[in-house]
Formats: sequence, C-alpha cells, structure tokens
Amino acid sequence: MILTTGSAGFIGSNFVLEWFAVCDEPVINLDKLTYAGNLENLASLQNNPHHKFVKGDIGDAALVGKLLTEHKPRAVVNFAAESHVDRSIHGPEDFIQTNIVGTFHLLEAVRAYWNGLPAQEKADFRVLHVSTDEVYGSLAKDDPAFRETNRYEPNSPYSASKAASDHLVRAYHHTYGLPVLTTNCSNNYGPYHFPEKLIPLCIHNALAGKPLPIYGDGQQIRDWLYVKDHCSAIRRVLEGGQLGEVYNIGGWNEKANLNVVHTLCEILDELSPRADGQSYKTQITFVNDRPGHDRRYAIDATRLERELGWKPAETFETGIRKTVQWYLDNQSWVQNVTSGAYRDWVGAQYGA
Ligand code: NAD
Ligand code: DAU
Repeated sequence: MILTTGSAGFIGSNFVLEWFAVCDEPVINLDKLTYAGNLENLASLQNNPHHKFVKGDIGDAALVGKLLTEHKPRAVVNFAAESHVDRSIHGPEDFIQTNIVGTFHLLEAVRAYWNGLPAQEKADFRVLHVSTDEVYGSLAKDDPAFRETNRYEPNSPYSASKAASDHLVRAYHHTYGLPVLTTNCSNNYGPYHFPEKLIPLCIHNALAGKPLPIYGDGQQIRDWLYVKDHCSAIRRVLEGGQLGEVYNIGGWNEKANLNVVHTLCEILDELSPRADGQSYKTQITFVNDRPGHDRRYAIDATRLERELGWKPAETFETGIRKTVQWYLDNQSWVQNVTSGAYRDWVGAQYGA
C-alpha cells in the first residue's frame, strides 16, 4: 500500500487513476479538498476497494501518524500543495502554511513512523516529494535548460514556498536518513486541470465566448509535459530512484504562451468551430503582466532518461489534442468546477 497526499487535485488524481490502470496495490489518498481538490476527479474509483479517500490536512501530524500506523504504507507520495502562482501573489499565506509548514508536519509524522519500522520495511520505505522547475528561477533566451545541479532562485511566493519544502525534504535525508526522493517537473497539462491555469482557462473561455487573457507580450516560455507522462516518471523514480536524489522531469517541449494559445484555438476551430465561422484567435486579449513573471523555464531531463530509462509517451501535438478533446467531452466537469468560488477568483484576477 502507498499513501498519496493531494490526490484529489490535478496531477495527484491523474496519478491515482494511472496507478490503478497498471496495478491494484492499494492507495490511501489524503486530501484537504481545497478549492483545487475535487472528488469528481476520482469518481471512477468509487467502487474500487483498493482506493480509500481520507479528507484531511498534511499539516495534521496526528492524523497522518494515525493513517501510517493503521495502514502501514511502503511509501508516501506528496502532491499536496497550493499550486497557483497568481493566487500566491494575491495571498501568500496559504502557500506558506501548506507548502512549508504542512510539509514539515508531514515529514515529522513520517519520520516517527519510519523510525519504528522493522529493519527490512525501514530499508524499503520511500518518501517521494513532488516539486516544480519554478524553484530554479527564470532562464534567459539562450541559457541551457535546468539541471538538477542548478542553484535555487525562486521568484514568486509559490516557488519560494516549494523551494523551502524541497530544502526540508533534503535536510530530513541528510540529518535523519529519511529515504526521500524529490522530483522537479515542468508545466503539466491534461485532463482534470483546474481552469485557473493557462491551458484549461483558455479552452473554457474560448468555448464560453470570453477573452483569452495573455499576460504581457505572451512571449514567456514554458516547457509542457502531458500529465500522464509526469505520472509515469513519478512511478519510475519511486521504483528505481537513488535515495536522497533529485530528478528533473520534462518533455523537451518549450513553447511561448502565445503559440500555445494559438494552437488551442486552431484545434478548437477544427473540433468545435464557432457559430459565426470566425477563429477563436479573435478572442485573444493582451492584459497586464503577472508581477515578477518568470520569462522562461526549460527542463533538462537527461538524468531521468539515462539512469532510469524514462521517456514521455506524448509529444506536445498529441497531448494537446487529447486535452482539448477531453475538455470538449467533459463540459459538465468544467461547469461544476467553474461555479461558485471560481467566479470570485476570476473577478479578482481579471476584473470585468
Ligand atoms: P492542484 O492545485 O491541482 O492540487 C493540489 C491538491 O492538494 C488539491 O487536491 C488540494 O485539495 C490538496 N491540498 C492542498 N493543501 C492541502 C493540505 N494542506 N493537505 C492536504 N491536501 C491539500 O495542484 P497540481 O497541479 O495537481 O500539483 C500537484 C503537485 O505538483 C504540487 O506539489 C505542485 O507544486 C507540483 N507541480 C505541479 C505542476 C503543474 O504544472 N501543475 C508542475 C510541477 C509540479
Ligand atoms: O513550471 C511548473 C509550474 O507550472 C507548476 O509548479 C505550477 O503549479 C503550475 O501552476 C505552473 O505554473 P505557471 O505559472 O507556469 O502556470 P500558469 O498556467 O498559471 O501559467 C502559464 C503561463 O501562462 C505563465 O507564463 C503565465 C501565463 N498566463 C497564465 C494565465 C493563468 C497568461 O498569459 N494568462 C493567464 O490568464
């Protein structure tokens, strides 16, 4: 059995769904169900006896300790986090609380449990901490892609809080010997992506006839990876990663934001054309830039490929088409997550 945290969110729910697609090892799924957590993502597991959902906070060390001693997992995979850069700019406190303090309490509970395990189980135990390429800061146009040895230079409250959590994880290995693995991944996209992030926001707004907001000049570069490829990489690192080590995960898919949105519009023009025959590109609207906006991210995933033989299954072209099709096929999911509090966020971030 494994314990995952934050697996009612975008990547965690894809991870659990993929997990059961390839094995039936039980999963305990601990999630606080913030605005970003959604049990609808896990609806297909409702009758799966191997999946147990528990509503709770990674910062609740007593609850985590109880789950660990009751279920005796062989590994913990930590997805739980506040994840949206723009929200961290509006209000950093939740990011400090969950990403730093929460990770600390989680590590303390795991350390206490791990210390009490019999020798073989102790040796086999793993903690995998899911992190981001944003901890490395921003690249200039011709800089080489981020390697695991790049120094940490986080620029937003979100990335600073993730950097702090990575440092805690590292320290728990060096000081206490906790058997940790850390992964730093580039931008994900795919099913169940909350429509506050660029790709699902633009698909949703396009279909709703609303503006597609591009921050600044739209020439910022992100390195996109289909979410299921991120999940397969995490499974691979969990199986074969060296203790205490860091693995960068990415798909070698650097794209400028404006190009990504153009591609989305072209696929939508083909799969769900506008009634007036015009392109969705006419809805593109340049808006004020994000404060402190990182210009470019790019991941060098050589280590993961060379040492663990991992390769992404999707190119950007195949993954983005599947993603657009998923949103077209799952409009009721989109409607459910964009009601209520979502509207308050959109009002606060984009105004009228
Ligand atoms: P998300 O915001 O979609 O989901 C986060 C999940 O964590 C939600 O289900 C939420 O309810 C849960 N959560 C939040 N605070 C919690 C707490 N205190 N206790 C328990 N659960 C809590 O995020 P995501 O995009 O799925 O990201 C998952 C992880 O991957 C994060 O650690 C993020 O930093 C990292 N990451 C994300 C990306 C990306 O492109 N989305 C890329 C690289 C790394
Ligand atoms: O790099 C990994 C990170 O990718 C993860 O750690 C984060 O959790 C995840 O949210 C993501 O961060 P970004 O800030 O890169 O993702 P976002 O989708 O918010 O923005 C992608 C790019 O698009 C970024 O340059 C900002 C821009 N953007 C975003 C939004 C929401 C716009 O131009 N307009 C928008 O409305």
